[in-house]
Amino acid sequence: MPVKKEMKDLRGNMTALIVARSRNNVIGKCGKIPWRIHGEQKQFMDLTSGNTVIMGRRTYEEIGHPLPDRETIVVSGTKQFRGEGLRTAVSLAEAMEIANGSDVYIAGGYSLYKEAIPVADLMYITEVDLVIEDGDVFFPQFDEEDFEKETGETLGEEIRYTRTVYRRKVTEKNESDRK
Ligand SMILES: NC(=O)c1ccc[n+]([C@@H]2O[C@H](COP(=O)([O-])OP(=O)(O)OC[C@H]3O[C@@H](n4cnc5c(N)ncnc54)[C@H](OP(=O)(O)O)[C@@H]3O)[C@@H](O)[C@H]2O)c1
Repeated sequence: MPVKKEMKDLRGNMTALIVARSRNNVIGKCGKIPWRIHGEQKQFMDLTSGNTVIMGRRTYEEIGHPLPDRETIVVSGTKQFRGEGLRTAVSLAEAMEIANGSDVYIAGGYSLYKEAIPVADLMYITEVDLVIEDGDVFFPQFDEEDFEKETGETLGEEIRYTRTVYRRKVTEKNESDRK
């Protein structure tokens, strides 16, 4: 069964991506998020609390521990992570199966975002008002026409950031792309 079809069958109530990117689309540099903005991660903590977060092995290793009050599923073909609220899957499709119908937040990095965009109901994209030189991980290109964009608050003192939400449009093309 093709992965996209398999994931659609396994989709839970809601699949969302959550990311912060710079003006030039950078999300990572040298294994880290290339900014530290007090309060910026509050949305991530609020939205994912009580739900399931799926992330790639490098992103998990950067955080270094399971997040409290939520299920974390790490996607890795090379390592196993187990513990309180922590599971490992060998693919995004397997991670969705483990999530078993709960709301799912895909938290990066590049290849999980790329694989999940076609099945995402929502994308929470925080636009960070910085240009990052020499970034080495980028948010994948996607067709903006597939989503309705809602622009939220602009926050931050030294570094400004704007919350946006992309909601998938319900169109025949989108529905057939997701099958
Ligand atoms: N700005 C943001 O919002 C944000 C969010 C997340 C991450 N980041 C940044 O992005 C960077 C990390 O992202 P990344 O793209 O380099 O790495 P990543 O996606 O976090 O991890 C890559 C690893 O995950 C596993 N993996 C990913 N997709 C897989 C799949 N479909 N099937 C099996 N395994 C899969 C593989 O692990 P194995 O090698 O073990 O097989 C792969 O090597 C860091 O700099 C991090 O700080 C930023």
